[in-house]
Amino acid sequence: MKVIFIGDIVGSIGREAVEKYLPRLKKKYTPDVVIANGENAAAGRGITQKIYQQLLQVGVDVITMGNHTWDNKDIYEFIDDAEYLIRPANFSEEAPGKGMVQITKNGVTLTVINLHGRVFLPPHEDPFAMADALVAEAHKTSPLVFVDFHAEVTSEKIALGWHLDGRVSAVVGTHTHVQTADSRIYPGGTAYITDVGMTGPYDEILGMKKESVIYKFKTNLPSRFEVPKDGREVLSGFYVEIDDQTGKALHCERIYINEDYPFQG
Ligand SMILES: [Fe+2]
Repeated sequence: MKVIFIGDIVGSIGREAVEKYLPRLKKKYTPDVVIANGENAAAGRGITQKIYQQLLQVGVDVITMGNHTWDNKDIYEFIDDAEYLIRPANFSEEAPGKGMVQITKNGVTLTVINLHGRVFLPPHEDPFAMADALVAEAHKTSPLVFVDFHAEVTSEKIALGWHLDGRVSAVVGTHTHVQTADSRIYPGGTAYITDVGMTGPYDEILGMKKESVIYKFKTNLPSRFEVPKDGREVLSGFYVEIDDQTGKALHCERIYINEDYPFQG
């Protein structure tokens, strides 16, 4: 099975970048499943039902979330009916929605799991213990498992990657919006990258208008962060090829497209 993961889609520029490049990426990589992190898709804060449906329409199969899951109140209305939208599994057990979903393409089933880090972020349940439980559950159906770990610090993400090595097909980090260059396949067969990076405004600061962020750093005064609607885009992604029988990763590749690194067909 071939999988493309698209890093944190930020605002309309990010959504347009997916529309523009996903058809070309599909031609190049012929993925069976496309996963995207959509927690910043609605102007940087959460996701709406309309955007969820639009992303499915342009060819995304599964959408993962993160710390901005609840920012757009719309989500309470549709998350329980959104079959292919998952939020971090280690949120409170009171939380609506789910943290894991299975998708079958061409006779092969992939489980996608979303987890949330706890360092410099709210104290959610233990992501390591939750991963153990969900991976065991997933293996009852299929050895192919893909994990999006939405976390702030590199060490926590690397730790989860090693913790799950040999038990899942891939662990990808999201949330920090900057693609890391450490992609590899661990000895047990788990493809790994600390952060896939962001899909959104290329000339701003992590997708937010740079003036407001610079002002905040200079003054330490409240500043309203906004996602611009115009400007150049970047698309960050990760491609993984998985053995259908064993669930081990066979190959992985970083995807990074912008005007400095144009799409190579
Ligand atoms: Fe995030």
